[in-house]
Amino acid sequence: MTEVHSEEHSSLIKTPKQLVVVMLLSFIVPVAAILLLVKLITGDMHIDPNSSAMTEDAIAQRLKPVGEVRMVGDAQSAATIEAAGTAAPEAAASGAGTGEQVFNTVCQACHAAGVAGAPKTGDTAAWQPRIAQGIEVLYASAINGKNLMPAKGGATGSPDADIKAAVDLMVAKSK
Ligand code: HEC
Repeated sequence: MTEVHSEEHSSLIKTPKQLVVVMLLSFIVPVAAILLLVKLITGDMHIDPNSSAMTEDAIAQRLKPVGEVRMVGDAQSAATIEAAGTAAPEAAASGAGTGEQVFNTVCQACHAAGVAGAPKTGDTAAWQPRIAQGIEVLYASAINGKNLMPAKGGATGSPDADIKAAVDLMVAKSK
C-alpha cells in the first residue's frame, strides 16, 4: 500500500511547484468536503417553528422527566399530588394537619378522580349545585358524612376546623 503510494507520488510530482500545489490541495479538499458535508446535514434539517412538534407543550412533553406519578384525574390532581408530595409525610405522621394537608392526603383520595361518585375537585358543573346549598351545608356534609361520603372523609381524628378549611379549599378550586 505505502509502496504503491510513494510510486504514484514519484511518478506524478516532478517539480517543487507541483509539490506545493498538491500540498495545498491536500489541505483544501478535505476542508471543503467537511464544509459541504456540514452544509448537507444542517441544510437538510428544516425546522418549521409552526409545526405541531415545536409547540411549547410538545417540547415540554419531550423534555419532561421519565418517572412521574400521576393519578387518574386532570392536571389539577397532578398539581395537588405534587403538593401532597411535600405535605403528606407530616400529615400522615401526626394524624392531623392543616386544612391543605387534610385536603391533599384525605379528601383528594376520592375527590381528585371522583371515586364513588364524589364530585371532582375542579369540576365546576358538579360543584355548582352543591355550592349553591351554602357553605354551612357543605361543612356539615364533610364533617358528618353524606351517603357514600364518610364523616370527615374517614379522618375522624382531624379537628373540625381542618375539615372546614379543606372544604373551603375544595370549593375554591371548584368555583
Ligand atoms: C371515600 C371517598 C371520599 C373521601 C375520602 C372524601 N369524600 Fe367528600 N364526597 C364523597 C362522595 C361520594 C360525595 C358525594 C356524596 C353525595 O352527595 O351523595 C362527597 C361529597 C362531598 C361534599 C359535598 C357535600 C354536599 O353536601 O353536597 C363535600 C363538601 C365533600 N365531599 C368534602 C370532602 C372533604 C372536605 C373531604 C376530606 C376531609 C372529603 N370530602 C373526603 C366521597 C369522599
